[in-house]
Amino acid sequence: MSEARLLNLLARSLLAGQARAAQDPHRPVWHLAPSVGLLNDPNGFIQHQGRYHLCYQWNPFACEHGAKFWGHWSSADLLHWRHEPVALVPAEQYERNGCYSGSAVVKDGELTLIYTGNVKYPDGSRTAFQCLAVEEADGTFRKLGPVLPLPPGYTGHVRDPKVWFEQDMWWMVLAAQDPQRHGKVLLLRSADLHEWQPVGELAGSHCHGLQDFGYMWECPDLFRLQGKGVLLCCPQGLSPQAESWLNRFQAGYFLGDLSLQHAKFDHGAFHELDLGFEFYAPQTTLSDDGRRLLFGWMGVPEQDEAYHPTRDYGWIHCMTCPRELTLADGRLRQRPARELQQLRGQLTQWQGPAVTAPTLAADSAELQLVADGPFSLTLADSVHLDWDGQRLTLQRPSLRDGQPEYRYWRGSLQQLTLLLDRSSLEIFINDGEAVMSSRIFPRQPAQLQLQGESFIQLQHWPLAGGVLE
Ligand code: FRU
Repeated sequence: MSEARLLNLLARSLLAGQARAAQDPHRPVWHLAPSVGLLNDPNGFIQHQGRYHLCYQWNPFACEHGAKFWGHWSSADLLHWRHEPVALVPAEQYERNGCYSGSAVVKDGELTLIYTGNVKYPDGSRTAFQCLAVEEADGTFRKLGPVLPLPPGYTGHVRDPKVWFEQDMWWMVLAAQDPQRHGKVLLLRSADLHEWQPVGELAGSHCHGLQDFGYMWECPDLFRLQGKGVLLCCPQGLSPQAESWLNRFQAGYFLGDLSLQHAKFDHGAFHELDLGFEFYAPQTTLSDDGRRLLFGWMGVPEQDEAYHPTRDYGWIHCMTCPRELTLADGRLRQRPARELQQLRGQLTQWQGPAVTAPTLAADSAELQLVADGPFSLTLADSVHLDWDGQRLTLQRPSLRDGQPEYRYWRGSLQQLTLLLDRSSLEIFINDGEAVMSSRIFPRQPAQLQLQGESFIQLQHWPLAGGVLE
């Protein structure tokens, strides 16, 4: 269908649906969510001429996956965002089943998108093209078309290019699947973003000492942090373990020594980036002030998406809050971006035995908690966080059937930060040693109660909303 027709249908979908979506009591007040329809991966995250740009996989027509558009927001401060013209519309033959995930770079001063044109055939097979688009003065993007067809030796599952500039070259990591259905991350390089040469397989299932490790590794991202190589990726097809890999698909990272020239990445074990119920397809960028920032999708493909109550209001899913990444003790540490502190209202401080703590408003709030022993916390009478001295257990009613479901973290708990925004809960453990991100759907504005005899210290702030113009 032509771009004009698709945009006309998009306009109708927005005009007809936006007011209803805005009335949803579960709509976040300070997280990014789609005006209508379905949002998934963050795409094209970059800071350019002083503004952050964040695009997103978007089906503006329904709360289902489909031929994806790229929506586009920008912000000067990572907090207050404005809508930009829709970046990509799946109008061309080479992207007819979706402008799939990708990234942004600035080349010759121009904001340039690299994304996957997804093409599906009636027999169920597919192909993919890696494509370019360049921003025009009015904020729309001009497509330059495919620059990379399917690399030989892989199936049609090749997508999600993440590109950056280093050592006088453009580099790309690309998700791929080999004919034996092993997920891989390919490394390619280019002098001009147009001609790409393969450098090698950087990592994957049956690479570098890994055994079977999934049939597809979506959304790779590769960068250096404090001298170490960091590969983020989303392996699909890992079997659940006792207390880990419990989501439908995982999002995690490897740390290692990286040599781009030889496509060599000697890495350690896979670690989950987030232990909550909803987290996938994270993407990072390097900010002008040198921070490695990350947004994730607070959703998981094919995981109870049909049961999200926001569908009744014509929208589904949201982004995580932005996070800052650092390395400490051989692990990634993730903290809420410092800018978020500007959302804080009046501070309430309290200390005493947990069970005597006041009930706290938890609709849109930040809570910091230090405890000297076991305690538990109940949110909206339905979500429980329990610390027994060894294990932190998050319990919520399943979106599918209301039965309790669980996620876990083990360690030595010193401190917790909870970020709440109506239908989301992000838990930062020990100043970012681990994170648990989840959607929650309380029936009324959530309140939070504490139980247990341990002595706790609390800091509580309401968080202001209205961050999307
Ligand atoms: C990850 C993903 C990507 C793909 C996009 C399509 O959630 O499946 O691999 O590019 O979503 O929307």
